[in-house]
Amino acid sequence: MATSPNLTRAAFPKDFRFGAATAAYQVEGHSFGGAGTCHWDTFAATPGNVLRAEDGAIACDQYHRYEEDMDLLKAGNFDAYRFSTSWSRVMPEGRGPVNQEGLDYYDRLVDAILERGLEPHATIYHWELPSALSDLGGWTHPDIAQWFGDFAEIIDDKIGDRLASVATINEPWCVSYLSHMLGHHAPGLRNIRAAARSMHHVLKAHGEAITRLRARGRDNLGIVINFEHTQPASDAPEDIAAATRQDAINNRWFIEAVAKGQYPTEALEGLEAHLPNGWQDDMAAISQPIDWLGVNYYFRQLVAHDATETWPSTKPVQGHLATTQMGWEILPDGLYALLMRLKNDYVGDLPIMVTENGMAWDDHVRNGIVEDSERCAYIRDHMGAMQRAINDGANLTGFFYWSLLDNYEWAFGYERRFGMIHVDFETLKRTPKASYHMLKDLLARS
Ligand code: FCB
Repeated sequence: MATSPNLTRAAFPKDFRFGAATAAYQVEGHSFGGAGTCHWDTFAATPGNVLRAEDGAIACDQYHRYEEDMDLLKAGNFDAYRFSTSWSRVMPEGRGPVNQEGLDYYDRLVDAILERGLEPHATIYHWELPSALSDLGGWTHPDIAQWFGDFAEIIDDKIGDRLASVATINEPWCVSYLSHMLGHHAPGLRNIRAAARSMHHVLKAHGEAITRLRARGRDNLGIVINFEHTQPASDAPEDIAAATRQDAINNRWFIEAVAKGQYPTEALEGLEAHLPNGWQDDMAAISQPIDWLGVNYYFRQLVAHDATETWPSTKPVQGHLATTQMGWEILPDGLYALLMRLKNDYVGDLPIMVTENGMAWDDHVRNGIVEDSERCAYIRDHMGAMQRAINDGANLTGFFYWSLLDNYEWAFGYERRFGMIHVDFETLKRTPKASYHMLKDLLARS
């Protein structure tokens, strides 16, 4: 597989780490090891929510196959693994008793990562909220920050001393807006009050975990935020204004809170009336210093004004760029622009890691081989964008491909394949794709 000649390790900073990412519910197999039910189990059990009504009960069975998966990561010349810890596996009721078997799994996983000379990068919450907490209102409940803080300390007690980095929350926009306003993810609400509250509480939970882990002396703490490259669908002033509103909600809300302790005006105009009383008092804890920022980037999104809809009166528009199996428009320059925007407008020289970037494709194994040349190009082009940002002064310290394996792609079940390793979901056999071999080769070269 030909790679562009300058894409070698040597073209990246000396300590730059290359890894791959997954998340607990998407790969582990939630039916194993005494995990409690979570809101994704019930979301998936509700007709119409998930393609083919699939859930995470078996997933990739990484719960039993983590050694094999870490061997593949190592053999691919990678440096690091990003995984997440399942709240409902560790605390089946969300609060109170710990499922020791579940907690021990993460102990074994971290050891397996370290034994292979890889770095473990943990995300404490990647979406599998225990049903018992969901019953109480989940992310809309004012106490969830405390509950999450308790969970974070339990994780820290067990594995905190061995982690290269810790992210509190994965993609707070997805946890809140996508799940409580747009209804696309669990708990599947379409309610602006729930959306606004969860958008605040998820940040409050981040702040609470940072406070608690910092008090324990940790100095590797961050958060993982997702960004899209938002653009107006036309030059019409109302489309430009619509794109500005969407940019405020989807891209600025979370980073502005974390980096500056404020919410963007263009988002507050619709959401402030629904925020919990006294929200301003939480902004100091939300914006306390972090040690690094995680960035997830996948696509460009065109936005138009929708006069038939209430605030924010936006509608997505399909543009002319090539798309992935998700229908997402591919724009590597969007990643460059994002990294420079973060440096210039928000975090300056704070270390940034691209904690997710990758693409889904309708991959097939033929004669033992998966030819995913589209993915190879996507990866090369995005790595090129990262290189350009580094050359222009971005303090980018790592890149994690999403994902190590084909896995449970949430509302799209197992149909959408993001892995650099193919998984046969009948046999659970792993087959490295051409993209894995490309990265293996590229990472071997200095
Ligand atoms: C991100 C999620 C991750 C995966 C990718 C494709 O939004 O963090 O779990 O689903 O998208």
